[in-house]
Amino acid sequence: MRQVYFDNAATSHPKPPTVVQAINEYFNTIGVSPGRGGYRLGLEAGRKLLAAREVIADFFNCPDPAKVVFTMNITYAINFVLRGVLKKGDHVVTSSIEHNSVARPLEALKKSGIIDYTTVKADGDGFINPDKIRKALKTNTKLIVLNHASNVFGSLQPAEEIGGIAGDHGLLYLLDTAQTAGSIPIDMKRLNLSFLAFTGHKGLFGPPGVGGLCIDMDDETVLEPFILGGTGSKSHLLEQPEAFPDRLESGTPNTPGIMGLTAGFEFIKRTGLEKIRQHEMDLLKHFIAGCNDLSEIEIYGARDLSRQTPCVSLNIKNMDGGQLSFILDQVYGIMTRSGLHCAPWAHETMGTFPGGTVRFSFGWFNTHEEINYTLTALKEIIND
Ligand SMILES: Cc1ncc(COP(=O)(O)O)c(C=O)c1O
Repeated sequence: MRQVYFDNAATSHPKPPTVVQAINEYFNTIGVSPGRGGYRLGLEAGRKLLAAREVIADFFNCPDPAKVVFTMNITYAINFVLRGVLKKGDHVVTSSIEHNSVARPLEALKKSGIIDYTTVKADGDGFINPDKIRKALKTNTKLIVLNHASNVFGSLQPAEEIGGIAGDHGLLYLLDTAQTAGSIPIDMKRLNLSFLAFTGHKGLFGPPGVGGLCIDMDDETVLEPFILGGTGSKSHLLEQPEAFPDRLESGTPNTPGIMGLTAGFEFIKRTGLEKIRQHEMDLLKHFIAGCNDLSEIEIYGARDLSRQTPCVSLNIKNMDGGQLSFILDQVYGIMTRSGLHCAPWAHETMGTFPGGTVRFSFGWFNTHEEINYTLTALKEIIND
């Protein structure tokens, strides 16, 4: 059976061949870990890691490559910030469209009596109104944390305007770029971000198991490390090194993953971010136009495609989403994701809780022929 992969919002697939080559090359030519020995190969691994930080800092306009910290994924990067900067009595402003990687740590910090947070409700199309963010601020607000785009409905948030609010009030600002890095231009300075959290395995075309945090703030010492251990530096001290990236990077890094991720960034630069965005949005437009011809399909949000990622959620009337996703996979080989997509708040906001939706998310390697095939499949399922 043919395979059509429309779950790029979960993990992009396939990867550019150069990503796989970069991982192979690391094993074939280096294979050892950086910062763990003074021999030549170890130093070469260290140089590669530094070069990776430079590529990423340049891509996101992060002023200092040493402040590009590698983590396992964006969930770790977000936890590093929430657990690293928030102290007893702090208040956080977030939105009702967040992923559990933000919602759960915030709720845990609240339950343990450390912080309080306000959830600004997104509108019926999944957008956050910056004025509501402003109104939610309190005298003890320390941080605004938001996703750049919803992983369920694809709504792209006014991150720059909200960055202005953070700047006006001297607040820290953390952006979850899981759904946008690699397909929407992101400039840390322009958005006034203190923290940009990214994950490698989605739009950045890297392998799973690698992500990171870019930091740009006046006093980074407010960011306490919450995982401590070996860094290959200052081994005589029992205290964690103060300097970045070692302050946050304990334990042996995923160097092969980082090499693959770097090749992913280079692929995007070579191909052109605008070209990637254009192709993905053409696919989305094609798909939505086809769905709009089928009255049984209900699409949530996605009315203004200039404020949308290539991801859309829908249901077929009187049909369970899990069943639809199952038939698409089993009968047609079309891979989608049904349910709550780790974002129950987002579904509550859009009125799709607890049943959820079926999410179609497109990527650079998808084609218009695949969209036509899927629209035919949907018609057949509806008429069955
Ligand atoms: C908006 C958003 N935030 C966070 C995550 C978590 O990503 P990861 O599993 O790579 O940590 C995802 C992944 O689906 C996401 O879409």
